[in-house]
Amino acid sequence: MSGTAKRTVTLTLDGSNKSSTLPLLDGTIGPPVADIRKIYGDLGIFTYDPGYGATAACDSKITYIDGDQGVLLYRGYPIEQLAEHSNFLEVAYLLLNGELPKPAELVEFQKGVTHHTMLHEQLRSFYNGFRRDAHPMAVMCGVVGALSAFYHDSLNIYDPDHRRISAFRLIAKVPTIAAWAHKYTVGQPFMYPRNDLGYAENFLYMFHGVPAEEYKVNPILARAMDLIMILHADHEQNASTSTVRLAGSTGANPFACIAAGIASLWGPAHGGANEAVLKMLAEIGHVKNIPAFLADVKDRNNHAKLMGFGHRVYKNYDPRAKIIQKACHDVLGELGIKDDPLLDLALELEKIALNDKYFVDRKLYPNVDFYSGIILKAMGFPTSMFTALFAVSRTVGWISQWAEMIEDPEQRIGRPRQIYTGPTQRDYIPPGQR
Ligand code: ACO
Repeated sequence: MSGTAKRTVTLTLDGSNKSSTLPLLDGTIGPPVADIRKIYGDLGIFTYDPGYGATAACDSKITYIDGDQGVLLYRGYPIEQLAEHSNFLEVAYLLLNGELPKPAELVEFQKGVTHHTMLHEQLRSFYNGFRRDAHPMAVMCGVVGALSAFYHDSLNIYDPDHRRISAFRLIAKVPTIAAWAHKYTVGQPFMYPRNDLGYAENFLYMFHGVPAEEYKVNPILARAMDLIMILHADHEQNASTSTVRLAGSTGANPFACIAAGIASLWGPAHGGANEAVLKMLAEIGHVKNIPAFLADVKDRNNHAKLMGFGHRVYKNYDPRAKIIQKACHDVLGELGIKDDPLLDLALELEKIALNDKYFVDRKLYPNVDFYSGIILKAMGFPTSMFTALFAVSRTVGWISQWAEMIEDPEQRIGRPRQIYTGPTQRDYIPPGQR
């Protein structure tokens, strides 16, 4: 990135003759970014940006978001076009490699992924260590992290072949890990993957199927699952991706880094929001309760949020929400669910919130999670699985971002600074004198 600056911005420290001329770096699209790396040397100051709302921590060629316009591009391709014409494994190839695959390349890639869908038999025993009511995200954090103990042959992060194999292993195994987390909870036998099925189709098979009878995956539901996976595949430097990058910046192995990303995704302000949306809709219960609920949300003394609304970057409609809203109707139609009270409630809530001054003034629009929960519920997934499904889809984004970071010559260990507001130096007081 260095060397591309055509403009600068100059900062002057009030009351001194010190100034710092900072290069303004241009990406291919998006606002310019001031390179503040020498600001401490020049002015003796750090910058303060809790939540990193104004800070670019890396340069990346993978995903672009224009939050004001509601634009999302994977490697330059609009999400709407990928959602309509592509499929998850093609998108995975695109995210990892930068270009859409030629037909032969896609076949090779599919082979590479499907070759790794099974879990080591000893990993089965890991599941027995969990309580039956363990949250699938807890199981996923543990089992994905445990993969590091099984693949010592591919842990050299500076070897491109090791990185490639680890990416295949992660993308291939997370659906199996997630499906087994569910099977363990419900006490059904683990279903082994079937490599003759598509990626999303195989996941539905492992999740819903049982060995006692044949299970035919509904192609419309497989397509909807594939679409959901495409929409969640990557999203720039969000909290979980930044977690993966930060963990990876220390040289930690990719399995450990993705486990860290899963932990970060779990929170209700991030991937856990789809589960929280359903809980919220159940709590509201009826359209007539919406005004009282919204009054709670607007009350500053309350921590209640309208889950599935708002986004750090989108100050417009989340483009993924529009796509998933339509898919939601298709799935409900296919399943013959004509009047889904939750969907009716969600639609009404959306209508009211989009016209409410509180939400309009703060540019709070529905995000992808507002609808993904409803569609996943209709497809037969328990609420606790929603975030696990997000993790399955996002693994390809995480591993693409992790690999990009490792290959970046400017990459250093991530290590933010702070404003220290604690006590200044003082002397130890012996216990009897305190
Ligand atoms: N409901 C009610 N008020 C909200 C909401 C919401 N969902 N989101 C933001 N606000 C309010 C804030 O309280 C704040 O109000 P104030 O200016 O009066 O103090 C204002 O809108 C600005 O919000 P920020 O806090 O600056 O938003 P931030 O970028 O920090 O947070 C976040 C973004 C975490 C997504 C937030 O909107 C939220 O918690 N939403 C609900 C959870 C959710 O749906 N998360 C999924 C995100 S998408 C994803 O991860 C896939």
